[in-house]
Amino acid sequence: MTIILGLESSCDDTAAALVTSERQILAQAVVGQADRHRPYGGVVPEIAARAHVEILPDLVRQVLLEADVAMGDIDAVAATAGPGLVGGVMVGLLAGKGLALSSGKPLVAVNHLEGHALSPRLADPKLDFPYLLLLASGGHCQLLEVRGVGDYRRLATTIDDAAGEAFDKAAKQLGLGYPGGPAVEALAREGDANAVPLPRPMVGSGEPHFSFAGLKSAVQRAVASGAHRPADIAASFQQAVVDCFVDRTRVALEESDAPSLVVAGGVAANQAVRGALEQLAGEHGRAFSVPPGWLCTDNAAMIGWAGAERFAAGLVDPLDTPARARWPLDEDADKVRGAGVKA
Ligand code: KG4
Ligand code: ZN
Repeated sequence: MTIILGLESSCDDTAAALVTSERQILAQAVVGQADRHRPYGGVVPEIAARAHVEILPDLVRQVLLEADVAMGDIDAVAATAGPGLVGGVMVGLLAGKGLALSSGKPLVAVNHLEGHALSPRLADPKLDFPYLLLLASGGHCQLLEVRGVGDYRRLATTIDDAAGEAFDKAAKQLGLGYPGGPAVEALAREGDANAVPLPRPMVGSGEPHFSFAGLKSAVQRAVASGAHRPADIAASFQQAVVDCFVDRTRVALEESDAPSLVVAGGVAANQAVRGALEQLAGEHGRAFSVPPGWLCTDNAAMIGWAGAERFAAGLVDPLDTPARARWPLDEDADKVRGAGVKA
């Protein structure tokens, strides 16, 4: 059994965790920075990076104490090396390098997206490769065939906004503040999902790509019209996203023989999303897996677990490994027309 210390700092959550190759989470801690960013209505990269500097060392100390584990007992340090807000990534990666250097343990530089992609295997011991993954977070919306550790084929991405970004922007327009996803989900429970007609961008397209920019504008118009209850807008918006997910994932399921459908990333914490994808998997005769909500949103257990999977495969990294703002899981995926830096 190996013990991995995981560190996460790619956006606005600072996190540390101790995870074993036997899927035990010995200790984990996440500190969100929402209070620091809320006055600005979104994440301010400079503030995030400075907050990681303040918060991360205490979290490392805390998880080691809680698990009664010394640095000498661990097998490797796994730190997010990208993609994300590069100032924050540098903070966590350099902390990981310092801990690795001082303890003489190897560094595993983890792609944050691989953390999300492998997180379902931490929660579900029965989930084997390959699986079809809907990865929906604040920065990404992709369909990937996960074939093995470090082995990904991207079937689809968004040509504009990510799904989580759409939730955050809808929340802002509805005056729900930041972070938006959970607030929209809560308000949607009191609304009628059929009350507000909203578009389903890309639905019906033969390729499984996503688009959410048009939906965002339609929400803006619905709010500005003053004709609808906010709860109805929230419910109708959430249903539109779910319908896009289901339609696009159905196309991908036709392209992939993978026996399981999996959903991960922050938006996978959403109950309507989980329920709809589970039903879709059943209709297509595929097994379904989704991590618990806390493992869908950013955390360090998933980074520790990805580190454990990479370490087991003999993949460790040198101390001059760079921090990367952009780092696709499938380096060979074609650029999609209209896709910007978020792809
Ligand atoms: O994976 P994550 O924590 O961070 C990134 O890597 O981006 O995803 C954060 C995104 C945010 O856009 C947030 O609004 C969204 O996930 N999110 C949700 C829910 N919880 C978080 N979206 C919809 N429903 C939720 N319950
Ligand atoms: Zn994430």
